[in-house]
Amino acid sequence: MPERWTPDSWRSKPILQVPAYPDPQALAEVEKQLATFPPLVFAGEARALKRALARVAAGEAFLLQGGDCAESFAEHGANNIRDFFRVFLQMAIVLTYAAASPVVKVGRIAGQFAKPRSMPTEMRDGKELPSYRGDIINDIAFTEEARRPDPRRQIEAYRQSAATLNLLRAFAKGGYASVENVHKWMLQSVAGSPQQKLYADLADRVSGALDFMRACGLTFAVDSTLGTTDFYTSHEALLLGYEQALTRIDSTTGDWYATSGHMLWIGDRTRQHDHAHVEYARGIKNPIGLKCGPSLKPDELLRLIDILNPENEPGRLTLIGRFGADRVGDHLPALIRAVKREGRTVVWSCDPMHGNTITSTTGYKTRPFDLILKEVRHFFEVHAAEGTYAGGVHLEMTGQNVTECTGGARAITEADLNDRYHTVCDPRLNADQAIDLAFLLADLLKKEREGKTARMSAAAGL
Ligand code: PEP
Ligand code: CO
Repeated sequence: MPERWTPDSWRSKPILQVPAYPDPQALAEVEKQLATFPPLVFAGEARALKRALARVAAGEAFLLQGGDCAESFAEHGANNIRDFFRVFLQMAIVLTYAAASPVVKVGRIAGQFAKPRSMPTEMRDGKELPSYRGDIINDIAFTEEARRPDPRRQIEAYRQSAATLNLLRAFAKGGYASVENVHKWMLQSVAGSPQQKLYADLADRVSGALDFMRACGLTFAVDSTLGTTDFYTSHEALLLGYEQALTRIDSTTGDWYATSGHMLWIGDRTRQHDHAHVEYARGIKNPIGLKCGPSLKPDELLRLIDILNPENEPGRLTLIGRFGADRVGDHLPALIRAVKREGRTVVWSCDPMHGNTITSTTGYKTRPFDLILKEVRHFFEVHAAEGTYAGGVHLEMTGQNVTECTGGARAITEADLNDRYHTVCDPRLNADQAIDLAFLLADLLKKEREGKTARMSAAAGL
């Protein structure tokens, strides 16, 4: 029998990545206040996402998850949210067409504030200060005052998440995200891309498909779903006091749900099976992500799956591999085989960002576009070889034209990084690079689809 779970049962477990709040009383007061605030999302929405992810697990849909490494208070604004959303939906329309199946859209947004760090402190010019842990905890400026964890930032992060989510819901359901609009934006992006010729063929085929739909009389006026989209939010469940305060009982089922976002994930640094983060995640009914880095052994993964998804519920668990382009081939097959052998149902997703971070010769933390693409390619190849389904990607990206990752169609160089390097944490794909990646991914998805059709025909003896 597993031990009894409560929203605060994580507090009796060992825990990593905890900020050193100087005033525990002030922290407790903030958590008490947060517990009285309205939920940001509803249990029914989290269940809808779980159903959508169950289709991904079954190979009938594809997961696109992405957004900032860390949201910031300074970058909060309507334009930023709009630009991200536009790029994200353009990627989704390209992938939907290529996969010929639904794309489940999950943003790293409206709550992605807390960051795990490799080192608890940072050294600059002989001065040592606590590391920056995300705007929900402290400030990025390198002063003692700024780096001191301040619990009131949690209230600010909650309010920012609520405002962001409000705008996203309006965009998703208010007609802005109609298929017509997304298609128009995509054509504009393709027209402005140096890879225009390469993308034109797929873009034309999407246009043709929409013309066909229109000719059949299928328009927004007839079918209102063409004017709306389903968009979900996600973040790393790192700051557990904040998560606990927003963990609520769903009155219709009597189950506990995290209401800070639809999907929560456990980071690669905090996934120890007997520690606090896994304890917290096991008791909430939301869809859960688990980052899987090179140090994760198959036995440990199976143990985590037993804890996080004991009933083998499809859509509950998404495994997000983040190995590095040159290590996927060494690590992923053993994990896939273990999961398959035990008959566990999971979504396999690929985070090609966190295993491919390097320091440029100019001193910036960056990621070469080619390595990102290489990890995604290997991910698809491994799944093809194992006969399993490459179900999704998990990206760090923005709608702005920042210069944080090198390469892409516009060939950003290490010397360019200095121009618009704005991230408060890891380097993100910019708008052009994100769309480039979607077109390149489209090829891989098409191949996956053809492979599946060939396997089905062979099985049917055709
Ligand atoms: C992240 O997703 O920003 C992150 C810190 O990832 P990981 O836990 O995989 O290192
Ligand atoms: Co990151």
